[in-house]
Amino acid sequence: MPRTNRTEKSGVRLPLGERGDGRFYGAHILAVSQFTRTDLTYIFAVAQEMRTMVERLGAIDLLRGKILANLFYEPSTRTSSSFTAAMERLGGSVIPINEVRYSSVSKGESLPDTVRTLECYSDVIVLRHPETGAAARAAEFLRKPLINAGDGTGEHPTQALLDLFTIQEELGNLDGLTVTMLGDLRYGRTVHSLARLLRLYGARLNYVSPEILRMPRALIDELDQAGVEQHEYAELDDALPTTDVLYVTRVQKERFEAPAEYDLVKDAYIITPETLAQAKPDMVLMHPLPRVNEIALAVDNDPRAAYFRQMEYGLYVRMALLAMVLGKA
Ligand code: CP
Repeated sequence: MPRTNRTEKSGVRLPLGERGDGRFYGAHILAVSQFTRTDLTYIFAVAQEMRTMVERLGAIDLLRGKILANLFYEPSTRTSSSFTAAMERLGGSVIPINEVRYSSVSKGESLPDTVRTLECYSDVIVLRHPETGAAARAAEFLRKPLINAGDGTGEHPTQALLDLFTIQEELGNLDGLTVTMLGDLRYGRTVHSLARLLRLYGARLNYVSPEILRMPRALIDELDQAGVEQHEYAELDDALPTTDVLYVTRVQKERFEAPAEYDLVKDAYIITPETLAQAKPDMVLMHPLPRVNEIALAVDNDPRAAYFRQMEYGLYVRMALLAMVLGKA
């Protein structure tokens, strides 16, 4: 158990681990390569305390007076609203720009100018953008922390953190697991970030996808050099029986240039109760959501289906991150 410290008014205990040293105070959160195992242990301990706080009190004033600018150039339900909820449950407030069409972006304002503008009015910026590397480029213009909420087909680091936290909370362990990633592994930024984090825990990674949506070669090579055991399959049946975590992704229509190509692969894999009959009784089924057809509604009541709990874990992880980058954890 981590040592703890009580916040002044709420009585909620926050961990004082080795990384409770303010290392992330003022830092940008851009990619999962920023995190060590020690960092992750600390973030998850803070997230657990956030969960306890929400369950007991609903909200505290840890970030009272702080403002988050939520800047989304791409659609979002979970990431956008969970950052809003996270900030408000910590006593802060939010400038929501969820539809840049109605901002000065529609007049041709550049990304650097837009983030520099929002920096004048806020303490932290959350950015989702369709271009890979956009978060890192925007961060170069900022003095205040920027959190990458998904950059094109690049990374989605806060999703990967919440995915890993979900696995820890559901299975009680992160080491030596067999994780099977299914669906759109080419464009799916969530699997790119999660695969990199799982490297830290000796995971065996299975990739199951249509031929045109295979995991990028560069990422496979990167993980190979780090000693990660990886296997590629066309059929889920070949990987499912030994799987501890099945991570399903949506085939993203918006990433395809040719609609006919999307139609060919959109329903390549559909998880049904019959599929899960072949899986371990204590495995976990995850999905970053939104889903289209890839998991049948009939699966939702299976206790192994963790995707709705996964969204809630995201709230606690994002509360932890906001507290850390704003110097309050
Ligand atoms: N998982 C995720 O990023 O969902 P949203 O696109 O709704 O934010």
